[in-house]
Amino acid sequence: MPLTMYKPTEKKTLSQIKHIIAIAAGKGGVGKSSVTVNLAHALKKLGYTVGIMDTDIYGPSVRKMLPEDRLPAQQGKTIIPALCHGIRMISMAYFRKENEASVVRAPIANNVISQFIFNVDWGALDYLLIDFPPGTGDIQLTLSQQASLTGAVMVTTPQDVAVLDVRKAMNLFKQVQIPIVGIVENMSYYYHEKTQETLYLFGKGGGEKLALEMGVPFLGSIPIDPELSQSADQGKSLFHGDNSHLNSTVNAFLILANQVIAHADALAMHSKNCLQNFELIWREMQ
Ligand SMILES: Nc1ncnc2c1ncn2[C@@H]1O[C@H](COP(=O)(O)OP(=O)(O)OP(=O)(O)O)[C@@H](O)[C@H]1O
Ligand SMILES: [Mg+2]
Repeated sequence: MPLTMYKPTEKKTLSQIKHIIAIAAGKGGVGKSSVTVNLAHALKKLGYTVGIMDTDIYGPSVRKMLPEDRLPAQQGKTIIPALCHGIRMISMAYFRKENEASVVRAPIANNVISQFIFNVDWGALDYLLIDFPPGTGDIQLTLSQQASLTGAVMVTTPQDVAVLDVRKAMNLFKQVQIPIVGIVENMSYYYHEKTQETLYLFGKGGGEKLALEMGVPFLGSIPIDPELSQSADQGKSLFHGDNSHLNSTVNAFLILANQVIAHADALAMHSKNCLQNFELIWREMQ
């Protein structure tokens, strides 16, 4: 599908979305896309309407994890998102051939992101999850400034290097005044079924310690699950079909979803109260 460049018009495409949540990390490969997709499934299972915006222009991976039942469509300037297991989705993967490298200069990449924000007709949604690209560059800044975010869910793994980078990304959000919904630790532990042992292969407690240090909620831990990885590669979902042996991973995502719901609502309520409490008091100038 060709992506025609349009000037962003207005934010009305986002106006019927209750919460817009960034899924971000400083570091690549920590599981942002996996968390985005599985959190979307969990929210859907809990009865919410969900959309995913995959903003990784150079390496969009969500389409592979979540193949569509209906392709996106373009009506004039408006893009109608794809539908995948009842989840609405837009990704650069729809606008280029598979295996074709995305050779896109930074200003064009920013323009594409603006179109994802302003030209996609999401309709009414409870949650729009934005899978952020890795790092703290220009696209991340554009998204933070233009996408009317409720807040950001930060993904880390237990290792010190990941924790260090997530701290940097949190500082970017702080600078642009985007609140942090909380921190989720991915690949936290491996549960060895035969020995019934929990193994902390990458260390223990890094995400929780960072949450404490930064004064933000710790939203939960996701186990290392080879089935999660395999099913993602095959475009299958842990939430569908016979997955009785995978219940602990599905459960971890349901716990995460409930935490995100609670803290996003709290953030929205807080910002509403801040607006209501803002009162201008006239003082006569000296
Ligand atoms: N909890 C998990 N258990 C097992 N494998 C996982 C888990 N989370 C992610 N993975 C695997 O790790 C790899 C990286 O995950 P993913 O693509 O979600 O990371 P990412 O942060 O989005 O990466 P990128 O920065 O490249 O966008 C994938 O192969 C994925 O299947
Ligand atoms: Mg990714």
